Amino acid sequence: MRPVNLRDSWNRLAKHYQQRFALPTDAAHYGPFAPNENQLRLLGDVEGRRILELGCGGGQCSLAFAKQGAACVAVDLSDAQIEYARALAEQEGVTVEFHQGDMLHFLKTQPDAAYDIVFSAYALQYVEDLTTVFREAHRALRPGGLFVFSLDHPINDVAGYGEEKVYFAESYFRRGRMDWEWEHGPDGERIPFHSYHRAVGDFLNLLVDAGFVVERLLEPEPTNEHDPWGAIADYARHSLIPATIIWKAKKPLE
Ligand SMILES: C[S@@+](CC[C@H](N)C(=O)[O-])C[C@H]1O[C@@H](n2cnc3c(N)ncnc32)[C@H](O)[C@@H]1O
Repeated sequence: MRPVNLRDSWNRLAKHYQQRFALPTDAAHYGPFAPNENQLRLLGDVEGRRILELGCGGGQCSLAFAKQGAACVAVDLSDAQIEYARALAEQEGVTVEFHQGDMLHFLKTQPDAAYDIVFSAYALQYVEDLTTVFREAHRALRPGGLFVFSLDHPINDVAGYGEEKVYFAESYFRRGRMDWEWEHGPDGERIPFHSYHRAVGDFLNLLVDAGFVVERLLEPEPTNEHDPWGAIADYARHSLIPATIIWKAKKPLE
């Protein structure tokens, strides 16, 4: 299979994605069955902080940070997601600087040490060249700045679930592109996607190689069966293996 154009795929899915999950804007989220940032407090007090969000989708996380006093810049590949984010910001009377574009291209345009925090929820699995994204995020952060992101847990990437058991549907060690489809809507329209599977250690090593110190690695156990993201994730499955992994890394002062 050839790689798909993710911008097109997200443009096709955006409306349905936003309707289905109806994500809140009072707390930044991390993903299916994970506690939110108001509960985890990985970023500390964001008032007065400059935050860059990568792959912001409908902008709900940046809106939550902005409501808490942060100055937010947010980028997403999808025109439709950004359009939704801009409308939501206007509706809520909150200011966020939204940009449509590829996160790596956007990062490269940002000055050194421009941000206190780089944040991303469930977007970095769509990026092939994570080595350069991590290096650029490091460059764009001030010394002491935080890089916090979540994505599909790598074990969940390759797992299957049936008869109340989790099994390996694919090898955990098979790195690289995974092709899949998102079925949605009353007609069961199938939209092609791809994402990139990496092992947990790959993320750790990429972060260290980019110059970060990893401070926390979270693999949340589900606590809320009625999580809005539960629409795509199975609570019983994720009582056995984590859906989401969350990384907190810091750019050292020296
Ligand atoms: C699962 S959604 C998550 C969106 C949002 N962070 C949220 O939590 O709802 C993934 C998002 O990543 C965006 N994305 C994928 N590849 C990207 C890239 N290379 N640069 C910027 N955004 C990207 C998609 O357009 C999509 O909106």
